[in-house]
Amino acid sequence: MKTILIANPKGGSGKTTLATNLASYFASCGHQTVLSDMDRQQSSLQWLSRRPAELPRIYAHDAKKSELAIAPDWLIHDSPAGLRGDKLSDAVKAADCVIVPIQPSAFDIGASRDFLSLLTEEKAIRKNKTFVALVGMRVNSRTNSALQLASFLEQAGFPVLTYVRNAQAYVTSAERGVGIFEMRPSLVEQDLQQWEPLLQWVLETA
Ligand SMILES: Nc1ncnc2c1ncn2[C@@H]1O[C@H](COP(=O)(O)OP(=O)(O)OP(=O)(O)O)[C@@H](O)[C@H]1O
Ligand SMILES: [Mg+2]
Repeated sequence: MKTILIANPKGGSGKTTLATNLASYFASCGHQTVLSDMDRQQSSLQWLSRRPAELPRIYAHDAKKSELAIAPDWLIHDSPAGLRGDKLSDAVKAADCVIVPIQPSAFDIGASRDFLSLLTEEKAIRKNKTFVALVGMRVNSRTNSALQLASFLEQAGFPVLTYVRNAQAYVTSAERGVGIFEMRPSLVEQDLQQWEPLLQWVLETA
């Protein structure tokens, strides 16, 4: 079983969007996939409840209520805003990799700077047992804020996997319980390309 934690204590940074789309990718490849929600808001589990029955199954797990009953190929943990302390350490320790989405704004960069320095102190990360990577989220290229995010991410000490654009496809996929990998490819061509390096890193690292 490979475990991926999606984390950033900053609210609205794109954790659930990354978690649900990753789960849909693995399920659509035929892998047994569990989407585990650590968040009281339960956005990931709500997304799963909207998922059309004819699509490949993603198993739901409410991390606040129970232990995991099966050992799937892939376990994706969506985490809540504000995750820190022992809960963060436990989640990092249990993960093969941690993906941190960061949006291009001064507030997001400020909050993420503190979080990334907390991550560098985690024992599992220092000992190369858990690997961390960054994703620029809702990034419109050729904007000043995109440049500022890029210069922050590139000196942050972790690999920068990709920049995911701000796109209506993510909003639609959230509403419908699907991922961009399950939408008509002509609608999401650029988005699929942007995900390629992220998926490659996960497959090589986990
Ligand atoms: N690349 C994107 N393009 C367009 N909308 C996006 C994108 N990424 C995220 N969003 C939207 O931004 C909002 C916040 O994203 P999301 O819920 O994934 O963040 P979160 O980190 O899980 O938030 P929380 O901390 O509250 O759990 C959602 O409405 C989501 O649909
Ligand atoms: Mg969320």
